[in-house]
Amino acid sequence: MAYPTFIPPERTLMGPGPSDVSQRVLNAMARPTIGHLDPLFIDLMDEIKALLQYAFKTSNALTMPVSAPGSAGMEACFANLVEPGDKVLVCVNGVFGQRMVENVIRCGGQAVVIEDSWGSQTDAQKVEDTLSAQPDIKILAFVHAETSTGVRNDAQQLCRLAQKYDCLSIVDAVTSLGGIEVDVDGWGIDAIYSGSQKCLSCVPGLSPVSFGPRAVECIQSRSTPVQSWFLDMNLIMGYWGQGGKRAYHHTAPVNSLYALYESLRMLKEEGLEHAWDRHRSGHEKLLKGLSDLDIEFTVDEAYRLPQLNVVNIPKGVDDARARQQLLEDFNLEIGAGLGDLAGKVWRIGLMGFACKDRNIDHCIASIANVIR
Ligand SMILES: Cc1ncc(COP(=O)(O)O)c(C=O)c1O
Repeated sequence: MAYPTFIPPERTLMGPGPSDVSQRVLNAMARPTIGHLDPLFIDLMDEIKALLQYAFKTSNALTMPVSAPGSAGMEACFANLVEPGDKVLVCVNGVFGQRMVENVIRCGGQAVVIEDSWGSQTDAQKVEDTLSAQPDIKILAFVHAETSTGVRNDAQQLCRLAQKYDCLSIVDAVTSLGGIEVDVDGWGIDAIYSGSQKCLSCVPGLSPVSFGPRAVECIQSRSTPVQSWFLDMNLIMGYWGQGGKRAYHHTAPVNSLYALYESLRMLKEEGLEHAWDRHRSGHEKLLKGLSDLDIEFTVDEAYRLPQLNVVNIPKGVDDARARQQLLEDFNLEIGAGLGDLAGKVWRIGLMGFACKDRNIDHCIASIANVIR
């Protein structure tokens, strides 16, 4: 049997990720593969680290992409920082907070959970009350940009609480990095992970992470080995660490890293602040267009994510059929609601390269057509 070449259609990706990847990044990825210990590739690794430090706003030496998607960055943070018996306070107001709880449990930790309703922000007062009542909590973990609900949690305030109560912080920045402000050093974040496929507009499959000095000290002074060999930062440091001499740990995804480098160059050329402004004004344009169609936004304006717009599905519209029609007739992908919000909302991504006027106009016109 002959297998035909797979030629994907040219979709407009305006769901919760992956987002559109520019031709420039795709071209970079198609360049010749070289060895992952080639001196030229080692130089490229250093450039990637420097650009990630720029994107995260940090001088953390342990800043690098994990060779796997955002979920692996999440696991890397929990597997390295949580030891059996450790108490971790997790803020849950969506799917990805729930996954953090799963990670704590699988690392043998004790999860203390604060829940807030889906669509609202984590309540900082509840966090403070819990941290002051339970001084043995070692880590505070939360999702900065909850992709399942479109809510921005107040990372700066939560990290301030972690410091006040002498906890380490683990922050999920998968959807926030490059789309809204993330300030690792300024906010005192100890461990953070992101994803390549959201506002960085790179291909999926890489997870930038950064660990600050307190986190590195915690990893180096563990009394039990990290249960994941692949994600053990003590070992990865020998490969992604400082200096020209690198020890083989695993074969890095060379071409995906070319793509990440190119997408980070694009972010640097635009400038972080300009990228945040572009997401903000893209959101405002989408808001205006959808409001004209009487479509309401689900999340309060005060903590709404510009890069992930959650809207109530208009009354009488069949969710699955409408999204299928958008895909088939307009080549437009938007996201369905998850968990508590399934069947009630759509999630419209304006992430990275996808956040541009042409896409927003196309999205508004296509939705208008479909709901008519
Ligand atoms: C907030 C958040 N955390 C973690 C992940 C997991 O990332 P990945 O799907 O790349 O493994 C996602 C993916 O959508 C996410 O939105």
